[in-house]
This record gives sequence, structure tokens and C-alpha cells, in this order.
Amino acid sequence: MIYYLLDFLNKRSSSSTNSLELEVSGPPKTYLMIKSTAILDRKGQTVGTVSLIENITAEKEIQKVKEDFIATVTHDLKNPITSVIGYTDILLHPRNPQTEEQRKVCLQNIRQSAESLTFMVNNLLDTSKIESGVMQYNLLPFDISTLIRKAGTSFEPVLQDKNATFIFSVEEPFWVIGDRVALESVINNLIGNAAKYTSEEGFVEVASENNGDTVAIIIRDNGPGIPRDFMPFIFKRFHQARGAKSGSGLGLYIAKNILEGHKQTLTLTSEEGKGTTFSFSLEKADASSLQTHGDK
Ligand SMILES: Nc1ncnc2c1ncn2[C@@H]1O[C@H](COP(=O)(O)OP(=O)(O)O)[C@@H](O)[C@H]1O
Ligand SMILES: [Mg+2]
Repeated sequence: MIYYLLDFLNKRSSSSTNSLELEVSGPPKTYLMIKSTAILDRKGQTVGTVSLIENITAEKEIQKVKEDFIATVTHDLKNPITSVIGYTDILLHPRNPQTEEQRKVCLQNIRQSAESLTFMVNNLLDTSKIESGVMQYNLLPFDISTLIRKAGTSFEPVLQDKNATFIFSVEEPFWVIGDRVALESVINNLIGNAAKYTSEEGFVEVASENNGDTVAIIIRDNGPGIPRDFMPFIFKRFHQARGAKSGSGLGLYIAKNILEGHKQTLTLTSEEGKGTTFSFSLEKADASSLQTHGDK
């Protein structure tokens, strides 16, 4: 490093400011930006140099996280698009007639790919709304059990692939007060994560717990759990634990923010090798309330 530094200072030009970026191997790995300007006398001769050394490690880390994010999002968007193109090609092939059963399988796969694209795009839109501070919550009574059933059905193929089970332990119907659309995103992200990470032959359980004026919604899985050293970063956007299975690292950031918008917190307990539990509370509603979101 010293060699680069000396070489840089020796090469200083008499007319401009030079800059050099240096990586100092860690731990902790540090990045330095050195800016150097020549001091000239009246005749324009260089008589010295002023150098400024700046620690740019934080900026470099953000840049890396953003680059990784773009790479994973592009990769994740590509998979379902490739699948839609592939299955439509099969359906449209004139010399390749399918049986009714084969057509159904193709259409189910197209439907599933479209659903995962919608899920990813919704996460990107939610993040952008949260970031720009324009996320608004329309708090009205609605039945949360329907949203949980719907999420359980849409992640069923993920669970089936590993022979895992969805356990539904929620009172039906269960009326709460909240923004139905935003809370659907919370539920989809939490159940989606549990389905993605639960173990082979494992389970995802969603339960409700009555606590007076509020209800707790609890989402459990028996996957690998969350590494202890990753816990402080888990709710930060773009962050994923080592060995994360696809995704863009936005789901938990969105869920936490939406719940804060409902004056609630997202609680996490996890034990490595045993599983993970996320839970949050919502205010209960009177089922006879007149103004509702309606069911979409
Ligand atoms: N139920 C879970 N079990 C194990 N790890 C999880 C679970 N939920 C989240 N994680 C970890 O937290 C990270 C962030 O989750 P999330 O914000 O939803 O992003 P994504 O799912 O796009 O990776 C995941 O990449 C994963 O490492
Ligand atoms: Mg996720």
C-alpha cells in the first residue's frame, strides 16, 4: 500500500487535483480515498502537495449492497419470465398438441410465475413508497383470516416441492383494523419467507392469539433459523443472510415499516437449527362495523 501511495504522490501533476482509491485489507477491511493537490509558487513551480485522506468504507459498502441488489433482482425477475415464455411456447407450438392435463400444467406454471412477478414488483413499489414517505394507511375493519388462507394457498407449491405442511390455526373469520392491502404484503412476505426457509418435510404454522383488544398473528417455521450475527441487519433493506435463497432483501424491511405505520412492532425469535417465529399484533374490530375494505 505504501508503494502505491508514494508512487501516487510522486506522480502529482502541477495543474490538477489527483485522486487515488486504496483498499486496506482488514479486518476490518477499509477503503480510503486520497486526494492530492499541488501547491505552486508564483512561477508555477511545484513546491509541495496538500493531501486529504478520507475513509470511504461506508459509501463503498452501500455501493456494493446496491450492486448485489440489482444483480439478485434481475436474476429473480428473469426466472419467472423465462418460465412464462417457455410454457407459452409449448402451448403455441402448432405441431405439438397437448392433452388437457398437459395444458393445465402449463397454465398453472404460467399463473405461478405471474404471481411471483407480481410479488416482486409489489415489494419494489412498496419500498419506493416507504422511502419517499408517500405510503398511506387506510385503517378499516377487515377479516385477516382470508388473507392468511390466500397466502397459504399461493405458497402451497413452494411447500409441496419439499413435502412441507401449512398449518392454519387462525380463528375464522377474524376481524381486525388495518390497511388490508398493506397488511397483505406483510403476511405474504412473512409466510413467503417461512415457506422458502422451512426444512424438507417441515411445516409453516400461522396462528392467532386473542389478547383482549388486540390479536397476535404468529408465523412459525422449523427451518435453519437466522444466524445470530445477521440479526442486527435483518430489518434493513437489501440485507440477506449468507446463503440466502434468492430474493432481494426487501420483505422484512417492508413488513417492519408497514407495522410501524399501524403503531405495531414486528417481533422475531429464532434459534439456529430449530426454526424462526415472527409475530405482530393488530387491533381487533367489531365484525358488525359497517365500513369495510370489501373482499378483492
Ligand atoms: N423464516 C426465515 N428463516 C430463515 N431465514 C430467514 C427467514 N426469514 C428471513 N430470513 C433471512 O432474512 C433475510 C431477509 O429476508 P427478506 O427481507 O424477506 O428478504 P428476501 O426474502 O428477499 O431475502 C433473508 O434473505 C434470509 O436470510
Ligand atoms: Mg422475503
